[in-house]
Amino acid sequence: MVAPIITVFGATGFLGHRIVRRLHEHGCTVRIASRHPSQARALFGTNDPRLRPIDGDIRSGQSVADAIAGARGVVNSVSLYIERGKRTFHAVHVEGAQRVAVEARRLGVEQLVHISGLGANAQSRSPYIRCRGQGELAVRTAYPGAILVRPAVMFGPDDAFLSVILKLLQRLPAYPMFGNGMTKLQPAHVDDVAEAIARIVQRTERDPITLECGGPRVYTYKDLVRSVAREAGLKPRLACPLFECFNVTGAERSRSRATSRWNASWLRGVPNCSASTWGQRRRRLWRSS
Ligand SMILES: NC(=O)c1ccc[n+]([C@@H]2O[C@H](COP(=O)([O-])OP(=O)(O)OC[C@H]3O[C@@H](n4cnc5c(N)ncnc54)[C@H](OP(=O)(O)O)[C@@H]3O)[C@@H](O)[C@H]2O)c1
Repeated sequence: MVAPIITVFGATGFLGHRIVRRLHEHGCTVRIASRHPSQARALFGTNDPRLRPIDGDIRSGQSVADAIAGARGVVNSVSLYIERGKRTFHAVHVEGAQRVAVEARRLGVEQLVHISGLGANAQSRSPYIRCRGQGELAVRTAYPGAILVRPAVMFGPDDAFLSVILKLLQRLPAYPMFGNGMTKLQPAHVDDVAEAIARIVQRTERDPITLECGGPRVYTYKDLVRSVAREAGLKPRLACPLFECFNVTGAERSRSRATSRWNASWLRGVPNCSASTWGQRRRRLWRSS
């Protein structure tokens, strides 16, 4: 039997490279689509004929079409967390996602899996969450049978989540808690999500489904930080809100501004966690320092 060809965009990413490995284990031939095929070759090697690094940039219709042509299934695991110049949330999560869906439909791809995120909402005031929601709608319009996958925050080796919490716990005298620490999270292991995606892209049914992937337990952010600390044998002092625990100096202020800008694109419009709240809170604390 000929191995089915699956194209994965974002295939060098945290989730994407695990989807590639799982698909390979399932016997598929994987086109590892990336803007940097040399990076893909370094990650996956060049010897296995079922692992094929290729050029794939979702900003270009031609590049997308070349990467998809002849594939049975397509997974879009492209991500953008911070906007820079022309690399906006809209360009990647709406226009790019739509481009992949249009080409997948045109070229007769049998299964399209679009990775989005838990809570995606086209009406949100947060630009990031809004674009994720608009992206889902654009994908379903262009390719009505698309499978939408919405993972919760994911953890695993080389993540940007638990490893960051652990590093901060190890290095800071007090852990800078965001808000009141009661935000709820249901972290999923990245390998579990990758396995779910590898299975779902091979299904033969064509009905559109939305798959939400969360781990077995819901934590408050505060409880999660405490659990990480406990496992690492640390006794943290949790400080809330973020800037209260620092006697902010000039140099630290510019670092804080960078942190705040980074948060802003994510948090604008999220209840109790808006950029203006952070800005006002920071200004209040600076005045009192
Ligand atoms: N990580 C999480 O906790 C989490 C939680 C919920 C949802 N998600 C979603 O899961 C998906 C994957 O996230 P991730 O954390 O694995 O992201 P990541 O590690 O940042 O990887 C993103 C990938 O996108 C590729 N990429 C960026 N711009 C591209 C473009 N124009 N064309 C083609 N490829 C491009 C990058 O590859 P090159 O630079 O090599 O091209 C990279 O491999 C995203 O949709 C994300 O929103 C992630």
